[in-house]
Amino acid sequence: MLSKEKNQQLTQVGAGTPMGEVLRRHWHPIAGIDELERNPVKAVRLMGEDLVLYKDLSGQYGLVERQCAHRRADLSYGFVEDNGIRCNYHGWQYNAQGQCVAQPYEEQVNPQARQKCKIQIKAYQVKPLAGLLWAYMGPQPAPELPDWEPFHWPEGFVQTVFAEVPCNWLQTQENSIDPVHFEWMHANWSRRLRGHTGGYAPKHLKLAFEEFEHGFIYKRISEDTSDQHPMWTIGRVCLWPNGFFLGDHFEWRVPVDDENTLSVTWSFIRVPREREPYVQTSIPSWTSPIKDDAGRWITSHVINQDIVAWVGQGRIADRTQENLGASDLGIAMIRRRLFEDIDDVKVGRDPKGVLRDASTNKRVFLPSDSRDFFQNGLPLAEYQRHPKWARLLNHSIFHAGQPEWVQRAHAEATGVMIQPINVIDL
Ligand code: FES
Ligand SMILES: [Fe+2]
Repeated sequence: MLSKEKNQQLTQVGAGTPMGEVLRRHWHPIAGIDELERNPVKAVRLMGEDLVLYKDLSGQYGLVERQCAHRRADLSYGFVEDNGIRCNYHGWQYNAQGQCVAQPYEEQVNPQARQKCKIQIKAYQVKPLAGLLWAYMGPQPAPELPDWEPFHWPEGFVQTVFAEVPCNWLQTQENSIDPVHFEWMHANWSRRLRGHTGGYAPKHLKLAFEEFEHGFIYKRISEDTSDQHPMWTIGRVCLWPNGFFLGDHFEWRVPVDDENTLSVTWSFIRVPREREPYVQTSIPSWTSPIKDDAGRWITSHVINQDIVAWVGQGRIADRTQENLGASDLGIAMIRRRLFEDIDDVKVGRDPKGVLRDASTNKRVFLPSDSRDFFQNGLPLAEYQRHPKWARLLNHSIFHAGQPEWVQRAHAEATGVMIQPINVIDL
């Protein structure tokens, strides 16, 4: 339970708010690289700021204020040039630093005027990595953009998926340190959704939560596992401050504003050994629906189920009304750490998880219970017999609505056609 004031501190994301300033010390994934190949201009809202992301004709990325400095037209309807983006209303143009570099009519009638030099709109840094475009909205110098080791796993087909989730970022991130929900929200609820009324999934018997350099790790022993199982010896990573690494995929929860979050998933599937060598030339990204035709939340896929929990907690979960138990020890730990981050940023220190040393930001290791498989792969027949990996090879399990063109790309990479699922079977 938190006081109203403490809850506000952790959930407000605007510039100048305590948590907004912490989150502005980190890079955030905001779009797929291939999205901008399809359409070079995209309206984005990030941490309460309306912005426009673009790739100009020289290949440079920019992220600038959405409103033109002239008379406030919407730059997401602008068009890209060799150097930046041009407003479609009267042609003023801005480079990636937000500097106005062209004012066509003003230059025509008054070529000596220097007005454009004084016109500047907000601009933030953008970097491409692992199929994603990442934004940094904090003070300079920007920290390193973390180069996680899974981004370099060989022989894999990667896709990135976005979902716009109408609730605050913190309740989505608290899901990253919540092992018990797996048993109920995914395993037991899915069984009921599939019409099975008898029997429950293996119970959680024991949990552990540990802090480490890049976040927290949770570990579990269930009725069907022992202390020798990778879920106890390795565990899963609540990646700091707004990510989740589950050994085979990443999720990030990027604040759009106080009441909305962009869910970003990066998932990897190793191709069967018979398909090697395989090098992926383009990482597809797509946006997943979260509601069905009747306006109800989609409940069939893993992350859609999570979304049902997140939005069910309200636009901003009211933590003055909750009752935490033993399953929530990790949640209490990450909240405490976020308050420490707030204090650190207030006195000018970096918060947890900020990487500054370029020499060590190379293939940064994260614990993964799946690493051996992703490093070594399997022949198709063995792959298809594996309870976990066959599911990833044959189905899109994380998000509903995988487009056909992504399914074709998956089939071209792996040699296996995606089969639809009604409700996941975990
Ligand atoms: S409003 Fe953008 S150029 Fe006039
Ligand atoms: Fe989940």
